Amino acid sequence: MSYYSIKNLEHYFKAYKKSVKDPKAFWDKIADENFTWYRKWDKVLEYDMQEAEFNWFDGAKLNITKNCIDRHLAKRGDKTAILFEPNDPKEEAQHITYKQLYERVAKMANVLQEQGITKGDRVCIYLPMIPELAVSVLACARIGAVHSVVFAGFSAKALETRINDSDCKIVITADGGFRGSKTIDLKGIVDDALENCPDVKSVLVVKRTNAEITMKEGRDHWLQPLLDMASGNHVAEIMKAEDPLFILYTSGSTGKPKGMLHTTAGYMVYTAYTFKNVFRYEENDVYWCTADIGWITGHSYIVYGPLLNGATTVMFEGVPSYPDFGRFWEIVEKHKITQFYTAPTAIRALAKENLDYVENHDLSSLKVIGSVGEPINEEAWHWYNDHVGKKRCPLVDTWWQTETGGILISPLPFVTPTKPTYASLPLPGVQPVLMDELRNEIEDNQVVGSLCMKFPWPGMARTIWGNHQRFKETYFTAYPGKYFTGDGALRDEVGYYRITGRMDDVVIVSGHNLGTAPIEDAINEHPAVAESAIVGFPHDIKGNALYGFVILKETGAGRDPNNLRKEINELITDQIGPIAKLEKIQFVPGLPKTRSGKIMRRILRKIAEGDFSNFGDISTLLNPEIVEEIKENRI
Ligand code: WT7
Repeated sequence: MSYYSIKNLEHYFKAYKKSVKDPKAFWDKIADENFTWYRKWDKVLEYDMQEAEFNWFDGAKLNITKNCIDRHLAKRGDKTAILFEPNDPKEEAQHITYKQLYERVAKMANVLQEQGITKGDRVCIYLPMIPELAVSVLACARIGAVHSVVFAGFSAKALETRINDSDCKIVITADGGFRGSKTIDLKGIVDDALENCPDVKSVLVVKRTNAEITMKEGRDHWLQPLLDMASGNHVAEIMKAEDPLFILYTSGSTGKPKGMLHTTAGYMVYTAYTFKNVFRYEENDVYWCTADIGWITGHSYIVYGPLLNGATTVMFEGVPSYPDFGRFWEIVEKHKITQFYTAPTAIRALAKENLDYVENHDLSSLKVIGSVGEPINEEAWHWYNDHVGKKRCPLVDTWWQTETGGILISPLPFVTPTKPTYASLPLPGVQPVLMDELRNEIEDNQVVGSLCMKFPWPGMARTIWGNHQRFKETYFTAYPGKYFTGDGALRDEVGYYRITGRMDDVVIVSGHNLGTAPIEDAINEHPAVAESAIVGFPHDIKGNALYGFVILKETGAGRDPNNLRKEINELITDQIGPIAKLEKIQFVPGLPKTRSGKIMRRILRKIAEGDFSNFGDISTLLNPEIVEEIKENRI
């Protein structure tokens, strides 16, 4: 029986059972029947959870872009692969067919090779949501270079850190980017970053906004003339199954961002399989994921998953509020979108606006609607389900992470009955467990625990670039023999999972995963700041917002607090980006600390939330009196 495309609940249970009883046979068949290989594998899987070593499809040879593009040419050459919807609704949408995509990727691949980029080199991509972004990603994969896409909302400092961490040789960027009514000076940001990146030898620049920019002689090149000269054919590099495909940075709870490394064959099999089933893609569907390719959602479910299935995937350059709050629904109507995938933060923002924005558009093309990025609250779930899905389209609440490569827990539309706020059941091949405080596996239902995975899946990250020890410690040590997700979850009486949120010092703001430590580091650079602690607190639209508790040095004491707040947020914008700005900043004389010097964030979190009911045990605090003082001056 084929399990590539799950038809109904019974079929799902069969697939699931098979995938747990014999995972190797399960993935062997999926990989064997649905992809093009130069050579097949000798072994499906070898692994060691203690050492965090995973080897999927050992011995196989392939190129992922042959699977994303070439193999579709015969049957789908004239089908739209990428449908580009520009920021400005008056600018015409672009339909890029599979044939055209082949040629654009081939040209880009040739340009990169002419720039001296070869297999294994790292390429930094810092582009807005324009077709060149997807084309660059695929061109890297075509030549075996490792792409490292940095979200074009990150600051020069953040870009610099990421370029240097993975030692990128080249940067692909644009003269600027459009975002709603704003334009962003991307090239200026790249120039600033590169002051401290000695190993970057060349920069390729896409023309998008026609902004005046400076081009550094010998380093910077306009991309278009190079593409015009390049051949439109390219022989793909032959890659091994575990050759690196890309690095994508995600925030850690401490220190610098983690460059999660994904490899070729497992990622391909997993993103293709999950895309097919979670969105139930059918041949003439037009699928739209509103994420940015700068995040894993865009990698797996705008580029790779859809193209692997020969889908039409929409790339939207703009924002949901421009030119007005009806933009998403206008696009759904205009392109007859069948699957629509967005984030709770966008839903909450749109739900606040007049319902006419939704109702003035014909959304009858929709078949499946999806959510990703953070827990979706009950109210947002119902608004989305009622007004967008019209109670007719299944709402898939998809739980996963940058580290997991693809969706692990989600309803399958028309298969799994949905339940508000529940990500529901694991995909075939995924084995979640809940762990208690004593590190024992919880067998019962209707309990909350720490969400772990007890068996590998093909799409998982293989390491943190340059730091396997950190990979092991972060994910495979807390619960020996298991992958620790960092999230807590509740399992209900029938085995459905509801994700309750992060258990570590990561806060999800508008769907962006932010580590508190790097933000604190940025604030502490302010000359008037002695120390700081950041926590998240619930926010109507953003899901969470950031609350900063800041201790000033004497030099700061006489200064206007509002000016200080502004300067602190400017520092954060410079170091990380505007997404990490603090909503509230309270100046405090001290922070609640344990005798070992650890800040008791749990208390700060409660104060930020305005919940003064039960601080729990504060007897281990060195300075319990500070709690009262901070509480009284809360803003
Ligand atoms: C964290 C991972 C996966 C792509 C976007 C975020 C939270 C993600 C859900 C969901 C509840 C969710 C988790 C997870 N999260 N999706 N459907 N329900 N929480 O990727 O930046 O790596 O963040 O996002 O806390 O650990 P990421």
